Amino acid sequence: MGTPSVSLPGGTWTLGDLTVTRFGYGAMQLAGPWVMGPPADREGALAVLREAVGLGITHIDTADAYGPRITNQLIREALHPYSDSLHIVTKVGATRDEEGGWPPARKPEELRRAVTENLENLGLDTLDVVNLRLGDAQGPVPGSLAEAFGALVGLQRQGLIRHLGVSNATAEQVSEACSIAPIVCVQNMYNLAHRHDDDLIDELAEQGIAYVPFFPLGGFSPLQSSALTAVATRLDATPMSVALAWLLQRSPNILLIPGTSSVAHLRENAAGAGLPLSDDDLAELDKIGR
Ligand SMILES: NC(=O)c1ccc[n+]([C@@H]2O[C@H](COP(=O)([O-])OP(=O)(O)OC[C@H]3O[C@@H](n4cnc5c(N)ncnc54)[C@H](OP(=O)(O)O)[C@@H]3O)[C@@H](O)[C@H]2O)c1
Repeated sequence: MGTPSVSLPGGTWTLGDLTVTRFGYGAMQLAGPWVMGPPADREGALAVLREAVGLGITHIDTADAYGPRITNQLIREALHPYSDSLHIVTKVGATRDEEGGWPPARKPEELRRAVTENLENLGLDTLDVVNLRLGDAQGPVPGSLAEAFGALVGLQRQGLIRHLGVSNATAEQVSEACSIAPIVCVQNMYNLAHRHDDDLIDELAEQGIAYVPFFPLGGFSPLQSSALTAVATRLDATPMSVALAWLLQRSPNILLIPGTSSVAHLRENAAGAGLPLSDDDLAELDKIGR
């Protein structure tokens, strides 16, 4: 599916037996406003996906809840049949309501339906990685994941899922998942300004489990900080580039999935994430979320 036109910063990581570029792409921004309905610029959305693969990205993060269904259908239209090197990571455990909310859908029968629908909309026989999304829109919520995670393990045994992960999870839920079955990744909110998972990232690195921060650029409210602006100005770079470069240098098990609906931003992010940061830069940035 095209030879990569630039070498992506960060190298690769292995999710179970799947090698992915550490610089990936998060597809949530491709749907309409607030992740509901079709994009205003459909051809533009398809172009972003093709550009991602053209840049050499082999990790795309998605969910059937985006749109709902629309983002997965765009991925299929733009990229199917998929190259063997491309790995699509999806998530289940939340659905959408008419107001655009994200109500939980974690009963075993809801998870089975979600896996089946992801397979259909993406045009796959097996999902490479499925994250069980926990908690709510405010963040992780403590409580056992055994029933829901066990249901996904059952679907994995049936060959519908290659590898499992958890998302929006507490450290205790991550441990509980690992006690039930191996996981290859944890996808939680984390960026320069939101550092709740610092200890968890280090623990996962020791276990060889990827940590995939969502909202790496701040999500719906872009990261803003005077220290970030100061470092970016000094380096003649954008704050977005500094934020991504910091994440890549934070820990080798961090995989990036910045979201964008713009080819120009995608290219800018792929180049910017490789910005070298000195010890002084890192020390200044480290103060932001502490
Ligand atoms: N597990 C979960 O519960 C969960 C929750 C949220 C997200 N996610 C995943 O995480 C991924 C990343 O999160 P996200 O997309 O919400 O947030 P994000 O990556 O932190 O930020 C995306 C926002 O930044 C803007 N942006 C990107 N590059 C830019 C640039 N170079 N210059 C200026 N603005 C730029 C985008 O606007 P433009 O479109 O204009 O570029 C978009 O508004 C999602 O795509 C999704 O796959 C998972």
